[in-house]
Amino acid sequence: SATGSIASKLLDWYDRNARRLPWRVPPGGGEADPYRVWLSEVMLQQTTTAAVAPYFAAFTERWPTIEALAAAPEEDVMAAWAGLGYYSRARNLVKCARQVAGMGGFPKNEAELRKLPGLGDYTAAAVAAIAFGQRAVVVDANVERVVARLFAIDEPLPGARKAIRDKADAITPDKRAGDFAQAMMDLGATTCSVRDPQCLLCPLSAECEGRAKGDPARLPVKAGK
Ligand code: ADE
Repeated sequence: SATGSIASKLLDWYDRNARRLPWRVPPGGGEADPYRVWLSEVMLQQTTTAAVAPYFAAFTERWPTIEALAAAPEEDVMAAWAGLGYYSRARNLVKCARQVAGMGGFPKNEAELRKLPGLGDYTAAAVAAIAFGQRAVVVDANVERVVARLFAIDEPLPGARKAIRDKADAITPDKRAGDFAQAMMDLGATTCSVRDPQCLLCPLSAECEGRAKGDPARLPVKAGK
């Protein structure tokens, strides 16, 4: 099917082009550590990969496990977070670590993850897919842009969110959902960028309706423009 071939083309591209980010297990590289996946995804909520990298290294060196982080005084964690911003994330990080350590580990499904402090729709889906290999629909701003272009969704954001989510759901594979999610994020962060979609480098250019219509950079449309 067309939607199935999107996933397989994107996964082939990811196998060759995945960014080697410090919290990542390379494609085919084995098991992800849920603690590292959760910590990185919380840090990445409002912060760039470049800004997160040194904080991720410092945190995992000082607190290598969720039990270690759960045992840390909140003030130590707040001090280590200084500079990353959005400090409610750090307070929720400590609360979540204590709760998860008390439960004996992270729950493995999206609905249970969603109940933990600091895990919104995006983060719960990302952890379910990347750490536990669950099929989950992971949509951040990069994924929104890729999907809006692939399917030439002309409706403006935020109204288009439901349509974008449905399309993202339709192309999410049952297997390798975590790699698929990270591949979509990498494609949006690199080739399918906001200003300059480099369609000649894109593994999905042949299926992209936005490209076929001529001006993919205009998508997604923002309300009020
Ligand atoms: N942004 C947030 N999480 C990410 C991930 N796992 N890979 C790439 N970009 C991301």
